[in-house]
Parts: sequence; structure tokens; C-alpha cells
Amino acid sequence: MGSCILLVDISPLLKDPVAFRTLIDLLEDHVRASFPKIDFIVGLDSRGFLIGTPLAQRLGIGFVPVRKKGKLPGATECISYSLEYGKAELEIQSDAVEPGQKVVVVDDLLATGGTMGAACELLKRLKAEILECLVIIELKALKGSEKLNSIPFYSLLQYD
Ligand code: PRP
Ligand code: MG
Repeated sequence: MGSCILLVDISPLLKDPVAFRTLIDLLEDHVRASFPKIDFIVGLDSRGFLIGTPLAQRLGIGFVPVRKKGKLPGATECISYSLEYGKAELEIQSDAVEPGQKVVVVDDLLATGGTMGAACELLKRLKAEILECLVIIELKALKGSEKLNSIPFYSLLQYD
């Protein structure tokens, strides 16, 4: 029996300016109510950039990209991780976050949790304080949040 990969497409949401603004409103409200001080939003390449950059602008704070391997100049930290359909590598610039700085990590989707877990591992190497991992959609049946261990996790929408 072949495996089935569930694809979640956020394109219709991005295409609708009212829906997109409402999404960022909801994320902003959640983050402001939860954390009095955040240094950076960290967004995950590539769909996390679409959500993380407008959110960072709303909050009036900076944005730090975690990128797929080979895209970032200068010294980087790199980690290999598993996807539903293979392996990949993520990188962050070594000086992107100072030890103790507070970050919220943003992506569109949590499936197996491999991507978010790898990004958190990179941030731990830089000794960032991860306040929360934040996604729009969580595919609960895949139990991805268990990969995040004790890091606080929040999803706006959950599907089984
Ligand atoms: C998708 C999605 C999440 C990740 C979730 O990214 O945007 O980042 O998969 O899956 P996981 O929880 O099993 O790791 P993808 O790697 O397809 O790349 P993209 O964001 O560049 O489209
Ligand atoms: Mg992604």
C-alpha cells in the first residue's frame, strides 16, 4: 500500500486580503496577549515567511529567517531533518539571535513536526529563549507537537 501525503495549500487565504488580514489580526492578538516582550519572530522557509513577516511588522519587531540549506551567507548553523517525503536541511545565521533573546517561531503548518523541531534545535544552539512555536494549521493525527517536547506550542486550527 502506498503512503498518502496530505497537502495543505494556503494560497486561497493569501489571495483574499480580508482573510489574510484577519489571520494576522488573530495571530497578533494571541501573541500580544501571551508575551509582553519578544525580540524576534523567526519564520521557516518558505511558507513561514509569508506569515511571519507581516506578523513581525504588526508587532513592531524584527524577523529572522530559518532557511533551507545553501541560501544564507556567512557563518551558519545547519541541521538535517526528516520530512514526510524525504530529508532536508535547515540553516540559521550564527549571529541571528543573541543568547537569551526571546523568539516566537512561526510556520504555516505542523505535520510531523520535523521542520519545527529542527528549527527549534538550531535556535537552542544559539541559546535563544523559545517562547512558543506558532502555526496556522496542526495536523493532529501526526502528533507533531510531541516532537517539540516541552516547548510551548499553539495552533490556530486543528485537523485530525
Ligand atoms: C511544509 C510546511 C511546513 C512543513 C510541515 O513545508 O510549510 O514547513 O512542511 O511538515 P512537517 O511538520 O512534517 O515538517 P515544505 O517543506 O513543504 O516547504 P515550503 O514551506 O517551502 O513549501
Ligand atoms: Mg514549510
